[in-house]
Amino acid sequence: MRAVVVYERGKYEVRDVPMPRLNDGDVLIKISYAALCYRDLLQLAGYYPRMKYPVILGHEAVGVVVESKDPRFKPGDRVVPLLHEPDGTCEFCMRGLDSYCINALSYGENVNGFFAEYARVSGNALVKVPNGVPDELAAFTPCVIAMVYKGLKRAGLTYGETVVVTGASGGVGIHAVQLAKALGARVIAVTRSPDKARFIRQFADDVVTEQRFSKVVKDLTNGLGADMVIEAVGTPTIEESLRSLRSGGRVIIIGNVNPDETYQLRLGYLIMKDVVMIGNVRSNRSDVAETLKILSKGLVKPVIAATYPLERFGDALEFMRNNSRIGKILIKP
Ligand SMILES: NC(=O)c1ccc[n+]([C@@H]2O[C@H](COP(=O)([O-])OP(=O)(O)OC[C@H]3O[C@@H](n4cnc5c(N)ncnc54)[C@H](OP(=O)(O)O)[C@@H]3O)[C@@H](O)[C@H]2O)c1
Ligand SMILES: [Zn+2]
Ligand SMILES: [Zn+2]
Repeated sequence: MRAVVVYERGKYEVRDVPMPRLNDGDVLIKISYAALCYRDLLQLAGYYPRMKYPVILGHEAVGVVVESKDPRFKPGDRVVPLLHEPDGTCEFCMRGLDSYCINALSYGENVNGFFAEYARVSGNALVKVPNGVPDELAAFTPCVIAMVYKGLKRAGLTYGETVVVTGASGGVGIHAVQLAKALGARVIAVTRSPDKARFIRQFADDVVTEQRFSKVVKDLTNGLGADMVIEAVGTPTIEESLRSLRSGGRVIIIGNVNPDETYQLRLGYLIMKDVVMIGNVRSNRSDVAETLKILSKGLVKPVIAATYPLERFGDALEFMRNNSRIGKILIKP
């Protein structure tokens, strides 16, 4: 089969590899779509020290079961894999916190991932996709939408609260805007680009393009500030995100587009404003199942910037770096 293989730090090629072999509990899936994520760029840039070489890249996909050694799955089932492969037995797995599994392997990092025609996945890492969720949305549900859903749950979002989303045109941002709306929030989207703002306006209540967006957020909230920020960018926007919060506000930290940059947090600001900071990554199996149920109501539309065949993976990566892109890039094997 064909696959995108990273064979040493920063170096990859689309090449022929043997079909995956299954052990007990494993499932073979035929990939319908895989999705590109900013993380793939960071992995190729060497920011993931646990990368094992050679490895098939890709951690976001949807597929159809073709062979199963796990009685819970049968050929024809439409499934999405988690980002990680939990053992299902450790202390965290037993508490339903499988994203913290102490023995987890990570797809596309230290176990083969999904930029390929087929993939071997443990049944412990699979969730069936309900009717009503298109493949184009299911593909990035675990890494993007269920990850944001987990963050909103941890932050205790309640109906009618005001949520600011930074990087609102990105793969994470544009779907975070829609999920927060679907859960009853009033959403203020932040983007640097007036052109992109026109597109985002169809999903958000307000769109802000000012670099100093906290002042506009205050104006839009009667001077109070937002209840919550979904921070999908990182160091370029975190200062304004914190300034946008009301007293007792929460910020969910998801993006880190410049991993070399640090941010100096003033503890007094955090303390005196009673701010809650939540670092957020991955999603548990239960988060994915709950999110897919929400998505089956049709309230979140997949925003796809482009779809590339596997053989043109290099062009897809190039487009990922293009600043005018809105939404996700899909790979069709
Ligand atoms: N925590 C997790 O579980 C998780 C999961 C997936 C991704 N991520 C991270 O989340 C971030 C976004 O990922 P993505 O896949 O959505 O990437 P993306 O599609 O490239 O979107 C990033 C968005 O951030 C904005 N942005 C980029 N550089 C910026 C800068 N210097 N200043 C201000 N805004 C900037 C841009 O929005 P505008 O052009 O509209 O301003 C861009 O569309 C990345 O750091 C990624 O690693 C985290
Ligand atoms: Zn991802
Ligand atoms: Zn475990």
